[in-house]
Amino acid sequence: MKAIILSGGKGTRLRPLTYTGAKQLVPVANKPILWYGIEAIVAAGITDIGIIISPETGEEVKLKTGDGERFGANITYILQEKPAGLAHAVKVARPFLGDDPFVMYLGDNLIQSELGSFLNDFKEQHMDALILLRPVANPTAFGVAQVDAQGRVLHLVEKPKVPPSNLALVGIYFFANTIHDAIDRIRPSARGELEITDAIQDLINYQKQVEARRIEGWWLDTGKKDDLLEANQIILDTCLQSDMAGEVDAQSQIFGRVRVGSGSRLINCTVRGPVTIGRDCHLENCFIGPYSSIADQVTLVDVDLEHSVILQGATVTGIHQRIVDSVIGQRARLKAAPQRPKALRFMIGDDSQIELT
Ligand code: DAU
Repeated sequence: MKAIILSGGKGTRLRPLTYTGAKQLVPVANKPILWYGIEAIVAAGITDIGIIISPETGEEVKLKTGDGERFGANITYILQEKPAGLAHAVKVARPFLGDDPFVMYLGDNLIQSELGSFLNDFKEQHMDALILLRPVANPTAFGVAQVDAQGRVLHLVEKPKVPPSNLALVGIYFFANTIHDAIDRIRPSARGELEITDAIQDLINYQKQVEARRIEGWWLDTGKKDDLLEANQIILDTCLQSDMAGEVDAQSQIFGRVRVGSGSRLINCTVRGPVTIGRDCHLENCFIGPYSSIADQVTLVDVDLEHSVILQGATVTGIHQRIVDSVIGQRARLKAAPQRPKALRFMIGDDSQIELT
């Protein structure tokens, strides 16, 4: 059994963050989204992993993620020249996959459930495809499935205008090698992509064994800012453990689960967890409220912040109005406002410079 993780694509919905970086490397609780997928796959016992990368962001993904040793996996990088669709990515990965069955994992998805029991069902029942489903409020934004009472999949459609149900396809799939013939038979969709949803529908048309399981627990598709903040909140809530590797002075107060990385200094700060602070940060006269993730080398002075994600190397100084629900990009700079504005809500891209005057 092998796995592929799709980490190519355009990432348009997380712009401007993704002008300069891969969306799958945007951190959730200070860890790239992509790494959660790798860890879930390794936890299910699969260590032979191919990662699909794009020419634009592939080098960054490779550099950051490495050859897999840190995960106990063996990672092969597979270049997809154009984001021509999820099924196209499988086509490009064919030399790596050979005729092995495989898990396909979309690099911007996170689920709470472990993969092990799905994998067992898939293997034991010799399925051609196993898909995971979850009811959603906005099915038009996803692939949507119609299933019968036994859980057999009747019909699938990608981003339908009139959805046949509220059951969205989660971005994690299990395939036998029969998927390759199906991909060879399909044509690009109206948006010009080879859709994996169409390939699975083709398997159904050929009476192949396609089954679905509903997932329990959370599922996060981190495509947009609010999804990213929600993912950050859920991961901090469920996974964060306290750890004080950095320095916290006597004037500072720490409540709840808080992680402070080595080389970081907190001077006269109040931190109310769950909060994670990376390495080599400087925080002075700050209140850091729940569900905040602060990456490495961040400077915060005279700042009041909660439920926000601050990326590597950002500097924020003198903003006394509370910063909430914000994502601040790498190396962004935010400087003091002489008079207090009423509210601040940000989605600021990498390298931005903002002065509130
Ligand atoms: O998140 C679940 C949804 O994912 C499913 O419900 C849909 O059926 C499925 O088509 C997919 O829809 P998205 O519109 O969310 O897919 P997106 O274009 O965002 O791509 C998903 C991941 O795959 C993302 O990490 C980028 C990567 N990708 C995408 C394309 C189109 C590639 O590596 N290569 C590609 O050609």
